[in-house]
Amino acid sequence: MKGIILAGGLGSRLDPLTRITNKHLLPIYDKPMIHYPLEALIGAGISDILIVTGGKNAGHFLELLGNGSELGLPHLNYTYQKGEGGIAEALSLARHFVGDERMCVILGDNILERSIAAQVAAYRAQPSGARILLKEVPDPERFGVPVFDDDEKLIDIEEKPARPRSNYAVIGVYFYDSTVFEIIDGLEPSARGELEITDVNNHYLQRGELDYGVIEGWWTDAGTFPSLLRANNLVEQTGANNT
Ligand code: G1P
Repeated sequence: MKGIILAGGLGSRLDPLTRITNKHLLPIYDKPMIHYPLEALIGAGISDILIVTGGKNAGHFLELLGNGSELGLPHLNYTYQKGEGGIAEALSLARHFVGDERMCVILGDNILERSIAAQVAAYRAQPSGARILLKEVPDPERFGVPVFDDDEKLIDIEEKPARPRSNYAVIGVYFYDSTVFEIIDGLEPSARGELEITDVNNHYLQRGELDYGVIEGWWTDAGTFPSLLRANNLVEQTGANNT
């Protein structure tokens, strides 16, 4: 399985911190942010990894991570996203890297307390399609939010709904097969002018090919000042990516 870390965007919600470097290189306690998704993948046995980055400080990733040898990787791959076309557009840049394989995609600002190894195994056991991960949160309106019917069947995902229909967030760890690239080809930009990962997930759902898991342990993003502070505090208190 391939690993893809999406670490592009302009990080405008963290201005002025992001004027001088990429958001994903800002500190989370004792390491730059990008280390956490990297370690999440490596800890789950995924070592063929592509980092999709962007913005004017993309070269900083090379200075920090080089060819990945300090992380124990045989090699590390990079590609570059121009502008802010959204998460799904960033993922489309991984097409040549992935080929016909399956992939685990992780957003570069997502940090988890526990290992994702069990979810990787669950996706390997899935015959086809995609898998998303959910976590109960106090502020679902900030995220992609799953909608369930009366039988607790997943029927829709709404992106940042004003009135969330569940207390769960779709976290930024996604599992896809290579048909994801055809789905992205057919997407239209959303109201914020981006190709949305939620639209990708709803395509799989409509095909009856979207499964989900609920994660244990804390999870946070780190793309706003409150969540960046929260991520630092959580990592200081308990560490991240533990089993
Ligand atoms: C993105 C996704 C959202 C998901 C979140 C997880 O939001 O669009 O569905 O719940 O990542 O971090 P963004 O960070 O782009 O606002």
